[in-house]
Amino acid sequence: MDKYIISGGGRLCGRLRVQTAKNSVLPILAAAVLTDEPVAVCNVPDITDVKNMVKILSCLGCKISYRGQDVVIDSSCCDSCEIPRALAHELRSSVFLLGSVISRFRRAKIAYPGGCDIGLRPVDLHLTGLKRLGVDISECNGYITCSCQKLTGNEIMLDCPSVGATENIMLAAVKAEGTTVIKNAAREPEIEDVQNFLNFLGAKIKGAGTGTVVIEGVKKLGGGDYQPIADRIEAGTFLIAVAMCGGEMELGGINAENLSSLLHKLRENGCKLRIKNDKIYIRSDRRPVAVKSVETQPYPGFPTDLQAQMTALCCVCAGNSIVTENLFETRFKYVPELKKMGADITVIDRTAFVRGVERLKGAVTVAHDLRGGAALVIAALAAEGESEVLDISHIDRGYAGFEYKLRALGAKIRRVST
Ligand code: UD1
Repeated sequence: MDKYIISGGGRLCGRLRVQTAKNSVLPILAAAVLTDEPVAVCNVPDITDVKNMVKILSCLGCKISYRGQDVVIDSSCCDSCEIPRALAHELRSSVFLLGSVISRFRRAKIAYPGGCDIGLRPVDLHLTGLKRLGVDISECNGYITCSCQKLTGNEIMLDCPSVGATENIMLAAVKAEGTTVIKNAAREPEIEDVQNFLNFLGAKIKGAGTGTVVIEGVKKLGGGDYQPIADRIEAGTFLIAVAMCGGEMELGGINAENLSSLLHKLRENGCKLRIKNDKIYIRSDRRPVAVKSVETQPYPGFPTDLQAQMTALCCVCAGNSIVTENLFETRFKYVPELKKMGADITVIDRTAFVRGVERLKGAVTVAHDLRGGAALVIAALAAEGESEVLDISHIDRGYAGFEYKLRALGAKIRRVST
């Protein structure tokens, strides 16, 4: 198991380019099963979640090849509709394959998905949506089995705007007979990206990015090369790191519009921000000022995937902050680890009350999930002295070359295999 050794206390300065969005690439890879023509997903990040999704596609019989950082998927010889338990457990997004596999084979069998342990993470909305399209579903021995004669468009009202359920239903509905309307759909930019990808292949989808997505079924999809959007969560993580450590950075290749809620908070913290075309420039010269409250919400609200990193920042702000997690039940597992570094945080139910301290101190901490792990790394970069972050396989799920990028900003961080 690898760990990071970090010598903290220095400023972060330099230029970075943002990776392609994990949360776009995963559903787009799953969507590749919907067509017989080769699809190239360009500049995919070198992260474990993508590697696991590619492994699952191979298990389904897809031919995978690489062209530099592009993954080329040829699904013409795809011949299996079963996603093995071991792989499904590695990756929550394996559930996206239900929609595309059922569309292709009229049958699909998948073990209950895994992913970050940040709460219950049920899939009931995915299954209710598929049922509305005519799919019979049974659940037995930890497997979900789906079958149907044909898929028929329908109106689907989501109880809450789930990102995964919206995408899964879109994938199942693309080649269904008739029109599907998803109401109370999630509005995340990655959903619009999935729509753009599918439309590029010949689908007829509109409305993604709003609360209503309309999918008119088509008979066939084509192929081609597609570049998904940039990763707003990776970008946000680096911006928060600079706010916390002090320094200046130019982030390239990102649509600042997709990060409005974070940029608004960073301005409140006292950071200087400038946006030009696809670049965000940040400067942080003095101790950040506490933002009174941060509440995670579905997009365009503050993203739950930046909650841990933002809480880490609140730990060293002048003043007190309140951070509320509204999406997932157990997304404060990193808090006891931050406390080892001298953070002053009290968690009551889903709210963290953070009293800012002047400085964090180096400590040995353990990453329990992807974003919590990233928060511990940036806290260690801002802390006085040396820290270790153990079990960084969680971080490898979502950040490509995290330590290389941080070193490019002057951070003293190295990976050690234990
Ligand atoms: C996606 C993102 C993840 C992000 C999350 C919320 C991917 C690969 N992952 O996860 O990084 O943290 O959106 O922005 O895109 N829910 C149900 N029933 C369901 C589905 C969801 O009750 O069937 C609930 C969840 O428990 C949670 C909320 O809906 O409280 C939001 O979850 P959802 O948007 O589905 O998250 P994911 O798609 O798993």
